[in-house]
Amino acid sequence: MSHETQPVLFSGIQPSGHLTIGHYAGALRNWVRLQHEYDCLFCIVDLHAITVRQDPATFAERCLSFAAQYIAVGIDPQASTIFLQSHVPAHTELTWLLNCNAYVGELSRMTQFKAKTQGKTDKTIGVGLFDYPVLMAADILLYQTQLVPVGADQKQHLELTRDIAIRMNHHYGPLFTVPEGFFPEVGARIMSLQDPANKMSKSDPNANNYVALLDSPETMRKKIRRAVTDATPGITYEPDARPGVANLLNIYGAFTGESPAALAERYADKGNAALKHDLAEVIVEALQPFQQRYHDLMTNRDYLVALLRQGAQSAQQRALPTLRATYERMGFLPA
Ligand code: TYM
Repeated sequence: MSHETQPVLFSGIQPSGHLTIGHYAGALRNWVRLQHEYDCLFCIVDLHAITVRQDPATFAERCLSFAAQYIAVGIDPQASTIFLQSHVPAHTELTWLLNCNAYVGELSRMTQFKAKTQGKTDKTIGVGLFDYPVLMAADILLYQTQLVPVGADQKQHLELTRDIAIRMNHHYGPLFTVPEGFFPEVGARIMSLQDPANKMSKSDPNANNYVALLDSPETMRKKIRRAVTDATPGITYEPDARPGVANLLNIYGAFTGESPAALAERYADKGNAALKHDLAEVIVEALQPFQQRYHDLMTNRDYLVALLRQGAQSAQQRALPTLRATYERMGFLPA
């Protein structure tokens, strides 16, 4: 199918830390799976990343590394558009237009905003962190996106995007496609290895909480071996009663395509150690070719830089009609 007749898919990840098996389970593997059925834009959302202060000396390098990781994980750069958010000014422009149609009340209700600002005073909470979901809405709405493959933690942000789209369409006439989310059945929410009550996060100060896609095989094995489980004998899939074990089964299922319940049956008479051993091997084996491709790509930085430049040009061209239509419908004098 040519791109002209395919529905548009948009997704992105913040370059604010290491890519982890959580990103793989919740997002990346579905990007790979869906890339040939949709006209895809995969963005490195660097403007989102600065809602938390980034070290300028390492930030650009991480952005380049993300581009290499997107390709290494299996995104075909010939078929999909890979680009940096900051290279396409239409994203920040549309954000302003949407800001004036979004409400403080709805942004205040975002659980991610509440979690990230817990215990902080208004004097130390950045406006960018508050406004973050509106920038995400602009990312999605600029391209008349129909499908947004993300993990469960982005569900509320996607709902807000839909609300803003519906509101704008109501006030100004049809402007935006109202997007749908795509959430994986298994692995939509991978939890921290040391604290399975909390989400696995790339910016976690304790590196034992996550497995990074670029961790060495030995580090991966060690982290999985140390993952918190429980003392109940045998393996069962009971996310509420046994969150640590359920998390390992979810990770396993995300990597192999098996259902966590079926895996639990297979391991029913075995212990945590056997499950951890096999899971670590599954991860190491799956990521070995990824790491090889990544390191090859990083030796060709000119290629990556050129690809990102090309991606940004194409994305800006595609974004302009929607941006211009929005200005026009809101009554701005054409430039
Ligand atoms: P971010 O950068 O936190 O995460 C990127 C993607 O990975 C998923 N994810 C997880 N899935 C399962 N388990 C986990 N532990 C886990 N951690 C992360 C996220 O759900 C997400 O799909 N606001 C977004 C980035 C963004 C975006 C967009 C996404 C900006 N604009 C437009 C889609 C469309 C974010 O912070 O994701």
